[in-house]
Amino acid sequence: MTIATSAQTTLPHNQSGSQRTQASNNDTTSGGVSLDNVSKTFGRGSRAVAALKEVSLRISPSDFVAVMGASGSGKSTLLNLISALTSPDSGRITIDGVDVTTLKDPGLTRFRRERLGIIFQAHNLVPALSVVDNVMLPVLAGGRQGHRTVDEVLEQVGLTDRRDHRPDQLSGGEQQRVAIARALISDPSIILADEPTGNLDSVTGAQTCDLLRKLQQEHRCTIVVVTHAPDVAMSAGRVVVLKDGRKVSEFETAQFNNATELAAHYQDLLRSA
Ligand SMILES: Nc1ncnc2c1ncn2[C@@H]1O[C@H](COP(=O)(O)OP(=O)(O)O)[C@@H](O)[C@H]1O
Ligand SMILES: [Mg+2]
Repeated sequence: MTIATSAQTTLPHNQSGSQRTQASNNDTTSGGVSLDNVSKTFGRGSRAVAALKEVSLRISPSDFVAVMGASGSGKSTLLNLISALTSPDSGRITIDGVDVTTLKDPGLTRFRRERLGIIFQAHNLVPALSVVDNVMLPVLAGGRQGHRTVDEVLEQVGLTDRRDHRPDQLSGGEQQRVAIARALISDPSIILADEPTGNLDSVTGAQTCDLLRKLQQEHRCTIVVVTHAPDVAMSAGRVVVLKDGRKVSEFETAQFNNATELAAHYQDLLRSA
């Protein structure tokens, strides 16, 4: 792992790791992610589904937050809203001090590409392209300057010796790490991951969690990860619990000794909510 080393890279458009640390200490109002009374309904009339209901949330720079909730509770909708892939019906979403609900293309696409690293459960890798080309895709698509080097991010996720492989020549965990490397190439300040360990065995899932935790601790990324899994949530500093589109609780993970204790607390919350 060379995360500490790679954090020294000069980042023209963004803050270096140490600057981000300062930002997280001094500036808790404009950085990070804020949701104020955000609601989102899909469909109309009798078929309307209120996926999120007046959710407010504050994620400080370099926080690691897990979003938990049953299937259909609104987790992916929340992540898609923060990713600015979906716009809310009401409420405000601020990322790094920018109100993304007012952004329009092409600024919105640029903002997303430069600030956000998005990791989906289905890795969305291009089968015909090598690892290197998959990782470089966002940069090539955007024609952006100032991204990190592909060698650096591949080393960071431990895939240097797989650089010329195609996705079908990789294990599930390796594919997931390609997706993480691709999210890192633009040197995002915020990483958003939707069930990143959902398709992985427990050992590979744990390695993915370790990688995310290192990114947060050593690279000062803000991380929001959607998950069902208590052991993934345990990697985070704080857990936000959704039920039927509402935020029902938020708690710190430091109070638990292990994932089993966290899971028991989470189940209690869902029962009483
Ligand atoms: N594009 C969509 N169109 C219609 N309904 C949707 C759409 N996306 C999500 N929903 C509904 O919104 C609710 C929340 O979905 P989602 O955020 O995907 O939940 P989760 O990720 O927690 O499983 C679900 O009832 C789902 O069916
Ligand atoms: Mg989902």
